[in-house]
Amino acid sequence: MIIDFRSDTVTKPTKEMLRYMMKANVGDDVYGEDPSVNELQEYAAKLFKKDSALFCASGTMSNQIAIKISTNSPGELICEEMSHIYKYEGGGIAFNSGISTKLIKGDKGRLTACTIESSINPKDIHFPENQLVCIENTSNKGGGTIYDFEELKKIRKLCEKQNLRLHLDGARVFNAIVESNYTAADIGPLFNTISICLSKGLGTPVGSLLLGNHSDIEKARRIRKIIGGGMRQSGYIAAAGLFALKNNIHRLKEDHIRAIALAEELKVLNWVKNVLPVYTNIVIVETHSEKEMNLAIDKLNKLNVKCSVFGPCQIRFVTHLDITDELLHEAIKRIKNVF
Ligand SMILES: Cc1ncc(COP(=O)(O)O)c(C=O)c1O
Repeated sequence: MIIDFRSDTVTKPTKEMLRYMMKANVGDDVYGEDPSVNELQEYAAKLFKKDSALFCASGTMSNQIAIKISTNSPGELICEEMSHIYKYEGGGIAFNSGISTKLIKGDKGRLTACTIESSINPKDIHFPENQLVCIENTSNKGGGTIYDFEELKKIRKLCEKQNLRLHLDGARVFNAIVESNYTAADIGPLFNTISICLSKGLGTPVGSLLLGNHSDIEKARRIRKIIGGGMRQSGYIAAAGLFALKNNIHRLKEDHIRAIALAEELKVLNWVKNVLPVYTNIVIVETHSEKEMNLAIDKLNKLNVKCSVFGPCQIRFVTHLDITDELLHEAIKRIKNVF
C-alpha cells in the first residue's frame, strides 16, 4: 500500500463524492446551461461575498485568467519571489499577459503592505507601470503559512490608494480559514479576484474557481474560451466541487492535526536536521546534506512512502483527505525504518 504525502492533489474522490457526481444535472456550459456548474459558481461566489464565479480546469488556469484580465501589456505585477504564479506556472505571466514581474522577498512566502509599498515603481517612463498585486494564502513555498487578517486589510488599503488591483491565489485558502479568525466572507471583499482550488485539500478530481465582480467574470469567461477552457457537460465535475464545499472544509483541521503529529515524529529522527514549524497541512523537513535527502527519499520510496523534494536539503510531506489516522501511523512506522 502506497502512502502518498507528495501533495494534497493526489486524493481520489470518495464513494459519497462519486455518488453525488453521478446524480448531477448537466447541460452545455459553454451556453451557460449546465445547472450544476451554475449552482457551484453561485455557491462559491456567495461564500466569498463576490458577485460571480467561473469554473476553471485548474488553479493555474484561474490564476492566469485573473492576471490577464487585471493587467495591460506592458505592465508589471508584484508578488512574493516564491509565488506559485511565478515559479510554477510555466512563465505564464509573460506568455499570457505580456507583463513583467516584480519579485519581493517576503516572510515565509507572505508580503506586507510595507514591502509592497516600497517596491512600487515611480511614475516615470523608464519603469513598467505596476498594475496588480498577487498574494498566496496559504503560501505553499512558505510551508503553508497563513496571512493575518489585519495585514490583508492593510494590503487592500494600499492597493486602493495606489490604484492597484489585488488577486488572491487561494489554492489552499480554506486551510488558512479553518486556522484563523476570518471567514471566506470576511476576506472575499478585500480582493478584486480570488482563485480557489477544489482538487487540493477539498478532495475533488478536477477544478478551480475564479471569483470576482460581474464585469471581471464576464471578461474571464471570454479568456477561458480563448485558451480552450470552455467545457461542455462539466456539471459532473462541478458536482464534486459542490460536494466538497459543503462537506470537506471543516475537516481540513484534521489534516493539520495529522501534519503536527507527523512533524513531532520526524523531528527526533537522526537523518532529520530540522522540521520547520507547521502552520497547516505542509511539513518541511531539512536534512544535513543533499546526499542524505536523496537517500532518504529513495529509501522512503522503497518503503512505499512518497514525499517530494522541496529545496536543496528540504523534503515536503503534505497531509490530505486520503491520509487517515491509520495510514499516518503506518507511515510513521515505515519512516522510522529509513536508516
Ligand atoms: C499555491 C498554488 N497555486 C496554484 C496552484 C495551481 O493549481 P493547479 O495544479 O490546479 O494548476 C497550486 C498547485 O499546486 C498551488 O500550490
